[in-house]
Amino acid sequence: MRLTFLTFILSASYQLTAAGTLGENETCSTGNSRLQTGTFQFWSECNSITYCSARGICEPKGCRKDDFPFGYPQGSDNIPPKCERGEFCPDEASNCQPILPQGSACQLNRDDQCEAPPNFQELADISGRGLNFNGSVCLNNVCLWANATVGTRCIFENTPYIAYGVGGEFIDIVSRDNCRVGLYCDSATQVCIQNKLLGDACTADKECESWNCLSTGVCGVPAATPRHFGVWVYVLVALGIIGGMAGTLTGLYVTHRKQREIERAKRAQYWKEQNAFHQNLMQMRETARASIPSLNRGGDYSRDDDSQTPILHSAETQKSSGLRHYMANNDSSDFDDGLEMRGTKDNRF
Ligand SMILES: *[C@@H]1O[C@H](CO)[C@@H](O)[C@H](O)[C@H]1NC(C)=O
Ligand SMILES: *[C@@H]1O[C@H](CO)[C@@H](O)[C@H](O)[C@H]1NC(C)=O
Ligand SMILES: *[C@@H]1O[C@H](CO)[C@@H](O)[C@H](O)[C@H]1NC(C)=O
Repeated sequence: MRLTFLTFILSASYQLTAAGTLGENETCSTGNSRLQTGTFQFWSECNSITYCSARGICEPKGCRKDDFPFGYPQGSDNIPPKCERGEFCPDEASNCQPILPQGSACQLNRDDQCEAPPNFQELADISGRGLNFNGSVCLNNVCLWANATVGTRCIFENTPYIAYGVGGEFIDIVSRDNCRVGLYCDSATQVCIQNKLLGDACTADKECESWNCLSTGVCGVPAATPRHFGVWVYVLVALGIIGGMAGTLTGLYVTHRKQREIERAKRAQYWKEQNAFHQNLMQMRETARASIPSLNRGGDYSRDDDSQTPILHSAETQKSSGLRHYMANNDSSDFDDGLEMRGTKDNRF
């Protein structure tokens, strides 16, 4: 069941991300090639390792843009080459082509297909936001230079991508223009305007120098700004950690002490019982001895008894001495009784 589900997802994603299903040498129609809804990714009827050629058949791809192109097994020999500098690999990946002069047709978001302006070093976007590539920009499928200055007319292109957030699907409009870096193209007036600074009123991210127009309508700090916490947070966390450790240790100590107390009470009880038995036994023996006085003087029995008694006595003393200490803390009356008994017994012998 799970495997089927997984397969379904994989095949679905394969179809979504890669391309069509036609293999090499199968007939296709370039007229069916399109950009996917929402992602604007190029799609053709041919599979991910072929492209639909002008002859109307799927042919192996002749170039790649990615270091690790999709659809090829790892270490495959048929991976097409990446293009040299001054060339580009089009979306359909047919073959490497020389970069295009400004004014020629280019593919969506493929600024790298356009020739750089002479002053590319001045115009190039080095912020990593992808405002242009080497000073050139592809807007509405035309190669331009991103050289429009403040107050001059500009061209922009809005692309509505489908994005997915916590609240589900939403439209993310990406607006690109040919203004110089640090300016944006105002949609209403179509002229380049200086980017707004922190706290200025804004209606879109592109207007802010920080690239972050807050929901309150003012430019906020860049979204990637790391969040710094006050010293008190660190103190609180440290106290929490130390407190947790101390609490655990105290809890364990208390629990352990309670258990030890219970065990000790049990052992004391046991000792008391044993001691009582022992005393009873002794008393019985004394009683028996007293009731038969003739045996007391009897040669064989008496000698026998004498030889046994010291052994018994010493063993008992050894055994009880440990517990006697132990008991002394708790309840010494029992122990005293025991001593008294033994004293009596010793006196008699
Ligand atoms: C496709 O056709 C070409 C020549 O027309 C041939 O060399 C090649 O082997 C064919 N490829 C497949 C997978 O059939
Ligand atoms: C930018 O354009 C110049 C001039 O055409 C070229 O020499 C340079 O290699 C380009 N830089 C990149 C990163 O393509
Ligand atoms: C700006 O770029 C356009 C091409 O996009 C070019 O025709 C024009 O001469 C450039 N203007 C300046 C001032 O470089």
